[in-house]
Amino acid sequence: MIDTSPLVERTVAAFFNAYGHAPELLAFAPGRVNLIGDHTDYNDGFALPCALQFGTVVAASPLEEPRIIARAADLQAADDDFRIDAPIETAAQGNWQNHVRGIAAGLPAFGLPVSGAKLAFSGNVPQGNGLSSSASLGVALGLALTALGGEKAPDKQAIARVAQWSEHHYVGCACGLLDQISSAYGRQDGALLLDCRSLTVQPVAFPADAAIVIVPSGVARGLVDSAYNERRAQCRKAAEYFGVESLRELDLAMLEAGEAGCDPIVFRRARHVVTENARTRSAAEAMARGDLAELGQAMRASHASLRDDFEVSVSAVDALVESLNAAIGEGGGARMTGGGFGGSVVAVVAVDRLPAIDRALADHWRRTGKPDQAHFLGIPSAGARLLKG
Ligand code: GLA
Repeated sequence: MIDTSPLVERTVAAFFNAYGHAPELLAFAPGRVNLIGDHTDYNDGFALPCALQFGTVVAASPLEEPRIIARAADLQAADDDFRIDAPIETAAQGNWQNHVRGIAAGLPAFGLPVSGAKLAFSGNVPQGNGLSSSASLGVALGLALTALGGEKAPDKQAIARVAQWSEHHYVGCACGLLDQISSAYGRQDGALLLDCRSLTVQPVAFPADAAIVIVPSGVARGLVDSAYNERRAQCRKAAEYFGVESLRELDLAMLEAGEAGCDPIVFRRARHVVTENARTRSAAEAMARGDLAELGQAMRASHASLRDDFEVSVSAVDALVESLNAAIGEGGGARMTGGGFGGSVVAVVAVDRLPAIDRALADHWRRTGKPDQAHFLGIPSAGARLLKG
């Protein structure tokens, strides 16, 4: 089990400073890295994420009035204070307050309890790296508030949906459910094959002789500012053109048969989704067999598809992926991960290749003249849970 104690200490100290007593409960939810299957979630497709050793802790105690007070422990003197017995307004776009307000507003919409609360939170998911700091905050808040409202073993899927709803209605990103489900259902023994149509998660053990390497690209990403919502609209157009409910229903033969009359950009977006779904399923099978070569091949093909067909990569990320793939050789692979437009690169490699990866990355930063970005191992971790209360 990952040691969350430094984060807990920081959060409890901030809670104590704000309210003068210890919190009644503590909730934790992790960030995630997606090993393969990007831009498939909002097309009812497949993804293979892994919850990580980083996350957000929320400390909470009840408040007698219908009001929520929240302190962001990582930001200087940052508080929010709003009533929950009236419509909850959004704060200016980009403000952290929207995460708290969105969850408070979303819980009743999904039949979950919300009541007056004093909150403090703190997180250690590297931000702007596509590792779902935002979903980790949303899910932890959802868990803390429902537990305060009396529901100690809430439906995690409902909490994930509330966190997604909050992103759509308060934060400003029309994301899928990948990040929130990964955070809610993460497992210590590996990844999750997520079917975004049925929302079922199937655990896939991570091979003992392999490691997950995460390399920040140095290009900070912002989902809201990026063309994410535009990609989503293009996928909708593609589904309409092909006459399917979602791109999940499309196979390669149907796709090719419809190419001639299709807008070429819309066609390429659809081709990415169709091929990514197939790659994700075979990558999960390869991972379960411990076949790093096949998993690596799927990851490389996924990157090429996100770069060329879906056009969500950037040149700094492409260069990093190339350097990594050259160093990894046959026994693994690297790709961009998450929404794209910067963020991180993820690699799966045999443990004995790790020293070679370190050398290749040092060389990469030297050659490109870019500031060296510290890379780290991704450790599969358990999903959201109450730590106290
Ligand atoms: C972001 C979104 C997810 C998903 C990925 C791309 O992380 O929040 O819902 O669409 O991008 O796979």
